[in-house]
Amino acid sequence: MEYEILGLVILLLAWVAWAMVTERRQRRLEEKGQLMPPGPRWWQLVTSIFQSGFAPHVSFAKLANKYGPIMTLWLGSMSTVVISSNDVAREMFKNHDIVLAGRKIYEAMKGDIGNEGSLITSQYGPHWRMLRRLCTIEFFVTSRLDSMKDVRTKCIDQMVKFMEDEGKSGKNSIDVGKFFFIMSFNLIGNLMISKDLVDPKSDRGAKFFYHAGKVMEFAGKPNLADFFPILRYLDPQGIRRKTRYHIKKSFDIAGLYLRERMEDTRNGEERKKDYLDVLLQYRGDGVEGPSRFSIQTMNVILFEMFTAGTDTTTSTLEWAMAELLHNPNTLREVQAELRRVINPSSKLEEEDIDKLPYLNAVIKETLRLHPPLPFLVPHMAMDSCTMLGFHIPKETQVLVNVWAIGRDPKTWKDPLAFKPERFLEPNMVDYKGHHFEFIPFGSGRRMCPAIPLASRVLPLALGSVLHKFDWVLAAGVKPVDLDMSERLGITLKKATPLKTIPIVYKGYQGQ
Ligand code: HEM
Repeated sequence: MEYEILGLVILLLAWVAWAMVTERRQRRLEEKGQLMPPGPRWWQLVTSIFQSGFAPHVSFAKLANKYGPIMTLWLGSMSTVVISSNDVAREMFKNHDIVLAGRKIYEAMKGDIGNEGSLITSQYGPHWRMLRRLCTIEFFVTSRLDSMKDVRTKCIDQMVKFMEDEGKSGKNSIDVGKFFFIMSFNLIGNLMISKDLVDPKSDRGAKFFYHAGKVMEFAGKPNLADFFPILRYLDPQGIRRKTRYHIKKSFDIAGLYLRERMEDTRNGEERKKDYLDVLLQYRGDGVEGPSRFSIQTMNVILFEMFTAGTDTTTSTLEWAMAELLHNPNTLREVQAELRRVINPSSKLEEEDIDKLPYLNAVIKETLRLHPPLPFLVPHMAMDSCTMLGFHIPKETQVLVNVWAIGRDPKTWKDPLAFKPERFLEPNMVDYKGHHFEFIPFGSGRRMCPAIPLASRVLPLALGSVLHKFDWVLAAGVKPVDLDMSERLGITLKKATPLKTIPIVYKGYQGQ
């Protein structure tokens, strides 16, 4: 206990010392006429974070009401510019996209395993361009996605079956997030290496699932070493050590899958081309980068698709279900549409999605209120620049608060209400990165490359479970009482898992 108090005192002193140094640095910049965006003093920032229960997206949104839609925060030694309005986001992505397309790399993401091969953490430049080109041309392109339709159908059918089994004909509440997670994990496993990784019979799959989940958990924790470089070597919360441990374990298992897949390829096993085939066949693109990928690099590329794709998909689907159960009229409306358009004796297919505007609107409304990455993935200024008359020094972290932008009362009528109808209006916005009031996938060069995949999987998965089951809350839980609080890790999740009972819809006669 005494050590903890001593630790806290040292931390507080370090914070004060740092605040003094950074404020002096800021004054020097101002004397040179380089005015950074306004922002709170360090103690106002700390108070605000405490008052908002350590929910930075909420406290930064409140601070933006006072300091404006472009503001500076000094978090220890890290200078951060936070953007909180669609106008400033437009300015950033339209006029400063390249210079602000760097990535802020946190301590947990650095390590001996290396970032070689990582698209998410690559700085904007030739290496990033090569990786990005490869995945957009070879993986998220329409023709490849069309050819992988059966894989998506298989994973979603399997999820519906798992839910039905665990729900035991309406007797059990199930943790829906768990099933969405398994579906997304297996979907990416199939697209990448043609394997179901989470199979109740496979111990190895369960271990991979566990270690990958731990990596995401630790990478999402606030780490003092990011704010006070002096603590870097001490790794006071053990985050770097634990993340490395779980990354190593995940890579060991992923390495086994890779080796098996290479054997299968040598034995001439027949299957559809997956992303590992693309990586194995890669011989350079004649423009830049290596002429072959090492095993290590392939491991990183495959692993990061899991981290980027599973939590984002899961949290969106879980929030959609939570909002629907919280708003029973909306749930009735979306199920009525599904059951009107899709014959009860058939199941929902991908081709049906365009015929379901209300279902698509539910997905958009969920992403508006609950963007899984409320600050996008942190950007970094690769060079100094001037935006809207403010100086942004090189290496400043840039966070775009899409959570606040999606709830801005200047743009959205009745912004806190869950109303999918708003997305049915003619000329309503979409999430392709051109309507800056709604950018859950980002915009510009670093925008999510997986929109073509996500825009198929999200409505198909949600629509399938809404078509097949009626959903009820456990006895005694009323829709208004449903806990809708958030918890920010690597993604913005529901603080308490959603538990609900699936009952097979009486009119359903499909598989
Ligand atoms: C609900 C679904 C998803 C949402 C809302 C989402 C959102 C995002 C966002 C906000 C970014 C960062 C944009 C920026 O920094 O400006 C991003 C980047 C990325 N996403 Fe997604 N994503 C989703 C699904 C997926 C899936 C399924 C995959 C892969 C299978 C994926 C792969 C990636 C990758 C590789 C990047 C890094 C791109 C880069 O740095 O150049 N995402 N995503």
